Amino acid sequence: MKYRTLGKNLTVSTVGLGCMGFSHAYGAPADKNEMRELLAQAVDIGCNFFDTAEAYGTPDNPHDNEELVGAALKPYRDKVVIGTKFGIYFDETSPELNKPVITDARPATIKKAVDGSLKRLQTDYIDIYWQHRQDSNVPVEEVAGVMQELIDAGKILSWGLSEVDEEIIRRACKVCPPAAVQNRYSMMFRQYEKLFPVLEELNVGLVAFSPLANGLLSGAYDKNSKFDANTDYRSMMPQFKAEALDKNQALLDLLENLAARKGATKAQISLAWMIDKKPYIVPIPGTRKLSRLKENVGAADVNLTAAEVKALDDALDNMEMSAVYDGTQVKTR
Ligand SMILES: NC(=O)c1ccc[n+]([C@@H]2O[C@H](COP(=O)([O-])OP(=O)(O)OC[C@H]3O[C@@H](n4cnc5c(N)ncnc54)[C@H](OP(=O)(O)O)[C@@H]3O)[C@@H](O)[C@H]2O)c1
Repeated sequence: MKYRTLGKNLTVSTVGLGCMGFSHAYGAPADKNEMRELLAQAVDIGCNFFDTAEAYGTPDNPHDNEELVGAALKPYRDKVVIGTKFGIYFDETSPELNKPVITDARPATIKKAVDGSLKRLQTDYIDIYWQHRQDSNVPVEEVAGVMQELIDAGKILSWGLSEVDEEIIRRACKVCPPAAVQNRYSMMFRQYEKLFPVLEELNVGLVAFSPLANGLLSGAYDKNSKFDANTDYRSMMPQFKAEALDKNQALLDLLENLAARKGATKAQISLAWMIDKKPYIVPIPGTRKLSRLKENVGAADVNLTAAEVKALDDALDNMEMSAVYDGTQVKTR
């Protein structure tokens, strides 16, 4: 296993594991025993970076994911890096599957949230505490001030910001530098590449969420794939529509070609492309399956040359592809 450093000193495996889909957004919740076993196996193979959030719940338990992850990782606490998130809750009045989120980053809310997360995660510190979305009612400076207080109190070791742009990163850095930002980043969603210079200047890492474009880039899904309209967000994601799958074939062919040459899989090429682009990028693909976890983690050993990464970028720049899911609507209180 290879490791990378986010910010000053947060050392994580080059590929982490996104745990959201165990509970939320990818169909009915996964079997808890299987997910506990998956997490134990992840630790066993050296994957030490786990991503959860207080908002990742099931219909029965709004905080299911943290409880599951915390219990499963408790025996390995000193070996693992746990990231969880604060600052949003789902608008349960919405009849939609993809319910809007409502932001709340008031200092009192954060201070209550961190204690809740620590309890559910069965730990006395969080390695990286992410602000899930910006709250337009609370300036990032105020949130960064609270993060400094939580660091001073030993409740968190570092913090980060999710789905943010340059201005927010710069403002946050002036008060309490974050170790990383966690933004959507994949071959189908590249808009945050414009942040690379500022991330380098400020020594802030990039944790890439949905790095497989929600699984599309693995090539494992086709027109026969069925997603439950009541529980699986992929049922409404644009990249999985029948006409989109036609449009995305050229992208999958591109991946297949290089994968064959490198003795890798399409998912591995998709992850290696970002890993080999910058030393501070860490993807956190989500999976419920051990074979896929091993495959994804193996992307760290697929070495793409700078010329191969550039050739992929050039091809992506000029390629037709469908729209890709770009997240949940964000509302303020
Ligand atoms: N900060 C934020 O706002 C935010 C938002 C979204 C997600 N996240 C985090 O990012 C993590 C990853 O994002 P994501 O889960 O949305 O998207 P993703 O990692 O791009 O894709 C996950 C999907 O791909 C499938 N998959 C994974 N590896 C595969 C492989 N090798 N071959 C075939 N299929 C594969 C998984 O299915 P199986 O489970 O069946 O393998 C799952 O359905 C989440 O778990 C969460 O922790 C953060």
